[in-house]
Amino acid sequence: MKLKQLEGLLGDLQQFSNPKIELEQYPTGPHIASRMLYTAENSFGDVSDKVVADFGCGCGTLGIAATLLGAEHVVGIDVDAQSLEVASLNAEELEVQMNFVQCDIKNLQFRGLTIDTVVMNPPFGTRKKGADMVFLSSALKVASQAVYSLHKTSTRDHIKRAALRDFNASTAEVLCELIYDVPQLYKFHKKREVDIAVDLWRFVPKRAQ
Ligand SMILES: C[S@@+](CC[C@H](N)C(=O)[O-])C[C@H]1O[C@@H](n2cnc3c(N)ncnc32)[C@H](O)[C@@H]1O
Repeated sequence: MKLKQLEGLLGDLQQFSNPKIELEQYPTGPHIASRMLYTAENSFGDVSDKVVADFGCGCGTLGIAATLLGAEHVVGIDVDAQSLEVASLNAEELEVQMNFVQCDIKNLQFRGLTIDTVVMNPPFGTRKKGADMVFLSSALKVASQAVYSLHKTSTRDHIKRAALRDFNASTAEVLCELIYDVPQLYKFHKKREVDIAVDLWRFVPKRAQ
């Protein structure tokens, strides 16, 4: 599938209608989401024929992009039941197969299921300190091949240190820096959109070597 076609399909997905601020529910826009998954597939071969998990899947954008790029199996995980309902409708609408699990990432147990690649746009940890780190640590525990994740550029050194020193990553590479438009979902946002610089990371867990 061409990049523009993927972006177009993701642009039609329903997003959070009543976002929960404490869960940092803001969607990954189609421009960033399509490029994130397209890079994972076309530069690294981490999507097609792989088992992919979308951590904090929200309305399913990243996981659906993985199915559209030929993943063998995709599971979307989120703590919020309402988001999972929307994600399930989005998958149905596009006629793609995806499984959904309601679970807090900190309680995730993946006994017996091999996940090749984790894709995620985790909470940045602005509402609940350390939320981003819980996602990263968990992703690097379950992925056998690679983890793709978005993190605020201001946290770059911290992310790299934690991934390599504490979370079992053998490599931690920033693939590109992006401008993330957080739409005005919450009353405390004064402007229509808040631009945040984010890094697209690729981590490789030690056991993948
Ligand atoms: C920034 S949004 C990203 C949503 C979606 N992945 C996307 O890219 O559009 C973060 C998501 O993580 C979910 N989330 C937050 N804390 C969580 C937790 N502890 N366990 C599981 N999901 C969580 C939220 O409900 C939300 O859907």
